[in-house]
Amino acid sequence: QIIPNLVNDKGHLMIANLDTLELAKEFGTPLVVYDVERIRNQIRSFKKVFEEEKVNYAVSYASKAFSTIAMYQVCNQEGAYTDVVSAGELYTALQAGFPMERVSFHGNNKSRQELEMAVDHHVGKIMVDNFYEIELLSQILEQKDSHIDVMLRITPGISAHTHEYDQTGQVDSKFGFDLESGQADQALKEVLANPRMNMLGLHAHIGSQIFELNGFQMAAKKLMEVAAHWRDKFNYESRVINVGGGFGIRYVASDQPLKAEDFVRTIIQTIKQESQKYNLSLPKIEIEPGRSIAGPAGYNLYTIGSRKEVKGLKPYITVDGGMGDNIRPALYQAEYEAVLAKDPQAQSIETVRIAGKYCESGDILISDQALPKSEPGDILVMLDTGAYGYSMASNYNRNPRPAVVFCENGQAKLVVERESLTDLVHLDRSYL
Ligand code: LLP
Repeated sequence: QIIPNLVNDKGHLMIANLDTLELAKEFGTPLVVYDVERIRNQIRSFKKVFEEEKVNYAVSYASKAFSTIAMYQVCNQEGAYTDVVSAGELYTALQAGFPMERVSFHGNNKSRQELEMAVDHHVGKIMVDNFYEIELLSQILEQKDSHIDVMLRITPGISAHTHEYDQTGQVDSKFGFDLESGQADQALKEVLANPRMNMLGLHAHIGSQIFELNGFQMAAKKLMEVAAHWRDKFNYESRVINVGGGFGIRYVASDQPLKAEDFVRTIIQTIKQESQKYNLSLPKIEIEPGRSIAGPAGYNLYTIGSRKEVKGLKPYITVDGGMGDNIRPALYQAEYEAVLAKDPQAQSIETVRIAGKYCESGDILISDQALPKSEPGDILVMLDTGAYGYSMASNYNRNPRPAVVFCENGQAKLVVERESLTDLVHLDRSYL
């Protein structure tokens, strides 16, 4: 069990030096709380590795993990880049004043409008995914008499799942250009032939919540092999190699991931080795971590309500949120841990199931949680919820989405308002 050691003199759990019971009282629950310093520290530790390894680099926050104006502002303050995957994420970054030259636009089916928006706002680069996109982008650049930097996303033939990875010549993935069948070579030819596209290099992303180095080493090697092949065959030398994100984090005590920075050091060292091996000049190295930046910095606060005993089984303790603010347990059987805000270090007396309030039997946030004695009205804090929680939230059952608070330097600032009931019907139109 993960037992947070940050308690105040009342024994209450603290987040960024703020009493979680006070936060729940001030902002209500369900509430998403971020410890902003943790976000900053993770970005800084990534940057530090690159600085130590003396390479040209970019740490690009994969904003799908948690995309809000405040988050882009913090990333910008830390000098990070960001990647966006929709007009919505791009618009949010724009509203945050995020410098567009540090934005990459990803996606396997970017629409004409999305590409136009990216070109109009001069995003740093488009991560080109497929032939249709090359054609569409080419038309748009022509129409707008514009230019743009691009990278090609390839399917490296390595796919990493949480605790395992597999390597096959061809991975069945909807993303990127396949290597074996020659798609990637063809894409390179088309991009190089287009005077409006400036080809920067290669991108691959092998998966998410990865615990082992091996998959990243293989991906880095594969990218460099392709770079060497392109140099030999097309006399084209890649200037940027982007290895994507995917660094795993600890959700439950049995998770034992490497430190995110250690993944990065290995990636850099592998790319250095391979560039020597192929006699390529060392490219700029980019990473796109999402979960490792946003995840451990976030907490979900809930109020405990009803309890149901089931003979011979773990009781259900129900909270005032659930799959609408965190779909991951229902969708991926994701595991989390939780503590009581009033006394996170109290001795556990029972093992319970933490249920959500949504009308589905599968809405169980934690299926096996040791807890001290709890009562209705107690605040339950779920740990490490900062990535793919709020960003995947829905209004299922017409529940409003929670508020989001950023905490730093003893201050709690509301950065996303709680949705109201009127917000929920805001887009509805009467049929009568
Ligand atoms: N780069 C690309 C191209 C990606 O597709 C992703 C994640 C990332 C970077 C960031 O990966 P991260 O460092 O966050 O693992 N909703 C799922 C995760 C989906 C990840 C999709 N792509 C979840 O909740 O586990």
